[in-house]
Amino acid sequence: MSPKPRKLLVTSALPYANGPIHLGHLVEYIQTDIWVRFQKLQGNECWYVCADDAHGTPIMLRAEADGVSPQELIDRVHGEHSRDFATFLVAFDNFHSTHSEENRILSELIYRRLDDAGHIARRTIKQLYDPERNMFLPDRFVRGTCPKCNAEDQHGDNCEVCGSTYDPTDLINPYSMVSGAKPVERDSEQLFFKVEDFRDFLRKWFDEGRTQTEIANKQKELFDGELFQWDISRNAPYWGFEIPGERDKYFYVWLDAPIGYLASFRNLCDREGIDFDEFLSPDSKAEMIHFIGKDIARFHTLFWPAELKGAGFRPPSAVWCHGFLTVNGQKMSKSRGTFIMAETYAKHLNPEYLRYYFAAKLDNNIDDIDLNLEDFRVRVNSDLVGKLVNIASRCARFVGKEFDGRLAATLPEPEMYSTFVAALDSVADDYENRRYSKAMRDVMALADKANQYIDSAKPWVLIKDEARHAEVQGICTQGLNLFRVLITLLKPVLPVTAERAEDFLNIDSLTWDSPREPLLDHSINRFKPLLTRVEEKQIDAMIEETRAVQETAERRAAGPLADDPLAPEITIDDFARVDLRVARVEAAERVEKSDRLLRLTLDLGSEKRNVFAGIQSAYDPEMLVGRLVVMVANLAPRKMRFGVSEGMVLAAGPGGSELFLLSPDEGATPGLRVR
Ligand code: 2FM
Ligand code: ZN
Repeated sequence: MSPKPRKLLVTSALPYANGPIHLGHLVEYIQTDIWVRFQKLQGNECWYVCADDAHGTPIMLRAEADGVSPQELIDRVHGEHSRDFATFLVAFDNFHSTHSEENRILSELIYRRLDDAGHIARRTIKQLYDPERNMFLPDRFVRGTCPKCNAEDQHGDNCEVCGSTYDPTDLINPYSMVSGAKPVERDSEQLFFKVEDFRDFLRKWFDEGRTQTEIANKQKELFDGELFQWDISRNAPYWGFEIPGERDKYFYVWLDAPIGYLASFRNLCDREGIDFDEFLSPDSKAEMIHFIGKDIARFHTLFWPAELKGAGFRPPSAVWCHGFLTVNGQKMSKSRGTFIMAETYAKHLNPEYLRYYFAAKLDNNIDDIDLNLEDFRVRVNSDLVGKLVNIASRCARFVGKEFDGRLAATLPEPEMYSTFVAALDSVADDYENRRYSKAMRDVMALADKANQYIDSAKPWVLIKDEARHAEVQGICTQGLNLFRVLITLLKPVLPVTAERAEDFLNIDSLTWDSPREPLLDHSINRFKPLLTRVEEKQIDAMIEETRAVQETAERRAAGPLADDPLAPEITIDDFARVDLRVARVEAAERVEKSDRLLRLTLDLGSEKRNVFAGIQSAYDPEMLVGRLVVMVANLAPRKMRFGVSEGMVLAAGPGGSELFLLSPDEGATPGLRVR
């Protein structure tokens, strides 16, 4: 290991700002956070930055579909992501956004430097264009019939049925997912980053072992192609940064996304007075380490190091890839209720359980990891509750009751203690090299040893013999000291439990080296349970809620017409029989003994009407006074329990709090006919 303290800049991939964090995302954030916490405990200077990936067509279209501006969408999602990361104890030093001034400046700088050095080319290419929406279509917004196997409704670039890859222009009967129109081919000039200029540099970078061998081998295959350039521009309309010196051209989201790592760090440096250049200059001694999923290796191990090199920054020290998450042995699935959102999980289960379970499964390879929910329950209960916490609770009982919370002045088994302390080095090596599953196995083997020690020493028997009380104090002191080593070893994974343990042991925040000296002749606090068992019903409730969340989302996506189909056709004459008029709400009040109705006095210009409207759960009466509404003015008066209703106001929605009154624009006068 390098001498301490190391200077480290660590990142996790930037989540897209158009959707919630789910358990699949969390594999990576938890993996990185454990590594970062470990480095900090070691006393290294380690900065962990991330940001929302806030640009691109999907975000632009999503905002449009939600009826909000892209800025509103990314602001809302930033809040949700920040909340979810905090819940899962993912402790970024900075969580920024790629839609930030820092990122604009850095993206322009990197682009200009690459251009000045001759690494940007221009070429005219054919692209699919949506003639209805007047926009170029990203591959994933085109679907059609697979040209190889004729499977219908396949993606623009690959077929899920036969697995072949192709150009979207090869699809049979292609259609735009934005408008449904048939895309046409159009010429368009684009800007390309000449990755080919960096072949030798990249070969060397891979040979230095900067990423896993499997990843390196796969990426190296690409070098052997002739022209190796990457299209970094997109045409308007696009949500992103405009390319300086161009008209209606934007940086492709994948150009400014990794630069977002630097932008987030820049923002942190400005806030904390850290020297940015010390981490990013070409001769930097600091390390820059990216954790990513194996699916985005090309961007991070080819384009990104080449970009950094070409623009006069240091390349990444390492890019560590992980596999995907499966749940119960299968891809996360919406219909099985296993596409679990971070928020949903946290309503039912302790986030530290998941941190521990992922740690117990993660290794430094790119294999997928499986969250088997039954195994999860059994393992958390047996390892964390049955083994780890048990050591503390068994010993604390006697120390509290019999010895006034005081630990003995010596350890009865110092050699055994030394074997535990030795794990500080071996487990450190495992964390450093991302062999978390081995680290967890070794820690649990030590927890078994500690429990066996207490089992065979039998303090509950000895305590009955007054003469052997001192022995009991020694056994419990030994047990609690072993526990203190174990909790230090697990602190990167279980930061909250570790903090509770520190409170209970009445000690300062543990660092990696703290347990090298045992805790003796010291008063501890009263023991409170550190973790509780996972119950099957909590897992069931989480799956149930996941299904319900999914169903609501599907219903929303299907739109109200799916639930409430159109009424039979009518003629224009039928419609003309309904006399709709603009009215102004003159007075509004709750109807006594009704939790649904408001009594409205409506001004129709030449007359007033008394109308009972079932809108109480959606509107406060005070909000309505003065507002223009639309009413059915020729509806026969209806006698109700509270009086006669002389018309009806128009509102959209299924009812309850989901009701939206129809209003003409301001300026309309009461009495005007609605046609
Ligand atoms: O694949 C993704 O989810 C991307 N939003 C990751 C970006 S990582 C980095 F390049 F910004
Ligand atoms: Zn196919």
